[in-house]
Amino acid sequence: MEQTLDPYQMLDSLAWQIELGADEAILDAPVNRYEAEEKVAAAAPAAQPGKADTPVAPVAVASEIDPVVEARLAAGEADSLAALAVAMQAFEHCDLRMGARNFVFADGNPEARVMIVGEAPGRDEDREGKPFVGRAGQLLDRMFDAIGLGRAHPDTENALYITNILPWRPPQNRDPRPEEMAMMLPFVKRHIELAAPELVVLMGNIACQGLLGRRGITRLRGNWQEVMGRPAMPMFHPAFLLRNPAAKREAWADLLDIQARLEG
Ligand code: URA
Repeated sequence: MEQTLDPYQMLDSLAWQIELGADEAILDAPVNRYEAEEKVAAAAPAAQPGKADTPVAPVAVASEIDPVVEARLAAGEADSLAALAVAMQAFEHCDLRMGARNFVFADGNPEARVMIVGEAPGRDEDREGKPFVGRAGQLLDRMFDAIGLGRAHPDTENALYITNILPWRPPQNRDPRPEEMAMMLPFVKRHIELAAPELVVLMGNIACQGLLGRRGITRLRGNWQEVMGRPAMPMFHPAFLLRNPAAKREAWADLLDIQARLEG
């Protein structure tokens, strides 16, 4: 077999499978998969000669289902945040849900004036079922605390509401795939509509890609955009700021801009 992974990637992949609960690499007895396929083929109904013009009920095949259309329908029917969370959790077309421990919907106060949209849960968020609780999340809390806003703030005026583009953790924190984003986006948009914040903060490139249709956070950050008819500020993602502390200067300028907008 062609070797495509280096030993470290293999180790990561093994660790990921163990995290998912895999506890054995081989079974006690060998399984002949070719034989299993033959059995399935033999069990399938054979074509019946002479019945060619009998009308046959159309069989819905998976490829006929458009997950984006399904998501739009499900999201559109949700008339409250609780209903939206239920609809998202029941949405079957995104395979990420199978590898995730938890569904991560939102945190903070849904009445908040500011709604933050991040990328996707990481390991800590997947464990706790809440967005932005790992190292990047702690930095995010400190950043907004500096302008008097917080997810646990008792006063709605100073509260934050936080969600992500994806509610399930991608394996090994890989970037969300375009098709995953496309099918979850109707839910994110409905989420913004229902929460109706005064302004939206787009944390990093993935949030910008999803809600503005473009990336390039270095140029976008600091410039007000519009999302669902609301002002939206793209900012450097706190995970990026952890790796590039010098960029905190720009992040601070963006926070002050958000504060000024809220006060104005
Ligand atoms: N990064 C994100 O974008 N979202 C989280 O919830 C955690 C890390």
